[in-house]
Amino acid sequence: MESLEVERMESLNEKNSLLVEDIGSGVLVLTINSPRTLNALDGQILQDLKGAFGVCAKDPKVRVVLLTGKGKAFVAGADISALSDFTPEQAAGFSRNGCELFDLMEKIPQPIVAVINGFALGGGLELALACDFRFAAEGAKLGLPEILLGIIPGFGGTQRLVSVAGASRAREMIFTGRRLDAAEALACGLVDRVLPAERLLDESKAFAMELATRSQSALAQAKWVLNSTRNLSLQEGLMLENQAFSRCFEHKDSREGIRAFLEKRKPEFGKP
Ligand code: COA
Repeated sequence: MESLEVERMESLNEKNSLLVEDIGSGVLVLTINSPRTLNALDGQILQDLKGAFGVCAKDPKVRVVLLTGKGKAFVAGADISALSDFTPEQAAGFSRNGCELFDLMEKIPQPIVAVINGFALGGGLELALACDFRFAAEGAKLGLPEILLGIIPGFGGTQRLVSVAGASRAREMIFTGRRLDAAEALACGLVDRVLPAERLLDESKAFAMELATRSQSALAQAKWVLNSTRNLSLQEGLMLENQAFSRCFEHKDSREGIRAFLEKRKPEFGKP
């Protein structure tokens, strides 16, 4: 990847609250960098993340994104200090602002892996839920503790947690605010892999590198169809799958992948 995109992201990010690293092969590592407040999501971080994912959306050189946090937290939630004087109207605007970011993350063509290095609480867990994969360190803690503040999740947690971990688990986590450890999160499907802390980033990078060798156009279609059919009937979902399957054949990757199989060689997938 040329460094131009990284520079563009960095120029959107004057306060350095989001670190952007290009590790090659089209893999970007975004690190939320506000460890003093456990990477709590304030307006600046939300804006930086929107800027960075907005750049990714338009840049076919980016193939996979890893998202992690600096220090002992992935993200410990929305910035509680910002919530203290909210009117109901301001609360609605704040919630919409977060939801816009998470919608964008689901809409960009690239897969995003949440690399959960520590606490993923409240808005931090909601952020991870908007990613395609969640890999967690053994000591990570995940939860939606909003109820303990007298509020509820407002960045999509009531919706995405149900589809990832089921309604019963979501109800229990949202009603009690209880934090799960990584093993429990793995058991209920909330995270995909649990790794020792010292191997978390390297193994996540290796996974991203593997994904980066796949057909980018087919991955984009797969992400689109999985994310856009969640609340549809089976028949409606199958219609969208049909469209996405057909679109794969507009791209030369499908010819290359199929031909490579028949010729008993590895495919060389290009750009969309
Ligand atoms: N918003 C704003 N600041 C936060 C924050 C948040 N969501 N989470 C942590 N911080 C700040 C703390 O206020 C503290 O700041 P200070 O040093 O100026 O006092 C700093 O980050 C370190 O946190 P601290 O609580 O001292 O760390 P800890 O290891 O003792 O506890 C947590 C870690 C995650 C258990 C605890 O910080 C916590 O419960 N955070 C809030 C989680 C939450 O309710 N999230 C949902 C928000 S809607």
